Amino acid sequence: MPLSASEWDKRFRQQAVWTQDLRHYLYPKIGLKKAENVLDVGCGTGALIAELTSQSKAQIYGLDLDLPRLKLAMRKASTGIYSGGNAQALPFPANVFDLTLSHFLLLWVDDPVRVVQEMRRVTTPGGSILALAEPDYGGRLDYPPSLAQLKEIQTKALRRQGADPHLGRKLRSIFAQAGCQEIVTGVLGGQWFEAPTPEELNLEWSVIAEDAGEEVSAKELRNLELQAKLAWERNERTLFVPTFYAWGKA
Ligand SMILES: C[S@@+](CC[C@H](N)C(=O)[O-])C[C@H]1O[C@@H](n2cnc3c(N)ncnc32)[C@H](O)[C@@H]1O
Repeated sequence: MPLSASEWDKRFRQQAVWTQDLRHYLYPKIGLKKAENVLDVGCGTGALIAELTSQSKAQIYGLDLDLPRLKLAMRKASTGIYSGGNAQALPFPANVFDLTLSHFLLLWVDDPVRVVQEMRRVTTPGGSILALAEPDYGGRLDYPPSLAQLKEIQTKALRRQGADPHLGRKLRSIFAQAGCQEIVTGVLGGQWFEAPTPEELNLEWSVIAEDAGEEVSAKELRNLELQAKLAWERNERTLFVPTFYAWGKA
């Protein structure tokens, strides 16, 4: 069964926790506190909007193609101004945002260079463009070895859904092709103190089931889920997906 907007919201909030250290590192560097207008492109259910509102006096704008997700964002972070629209043709005039950012967006769009060009167009000269999280599943690592096939399953599932599973490695080149200046790129590190909670694991496996239903049988998927959960219980599970970020000037 497809996940509802509120189930996606839980997943997006979980993903936002993975990148929170990076945001805390970058926000002061890009002068978030002094910004007046900030745009979150592909904002989904608004996982970043409340945080942006609390950390700056700027007016925060959110844009997404998916209207049920936007409606949820409006309810949860009502100070934002939201627009339904396509990141490939942003419905804003040029030079209006001091900061334009995205989070887990570019892998999903048809033409990521076009999207970053659009982000650059709507950003004031010298303002910042930030792609905060773009994974590269080609570098996915799973342990124990019985879970290695998850890499292939997820890669195929993303391709089938129209996403680019190898976007992360292309991010610097995409920013350069879009004409961004002073580009800085990096990969998020990871520190794991505790195993995910059963609720987090169940959510992760609902997303895998939704994504990969056509790649493997339900029985095979249940078997992999069981093995992954047992591996966490034995404290022997490793799962790492390199996730890239890029910061450029307009
Ligand atoms: C993985 S979600 C991330 C949502 C949010 N940025 C977050 O991190 O919680 C990707 C979002 O991008 C949106 N999206 C995909 N292609 C888009 C496009 N061409 N224009 C605008 N939004 C798009 C999807 O609807 C989805 O909400």
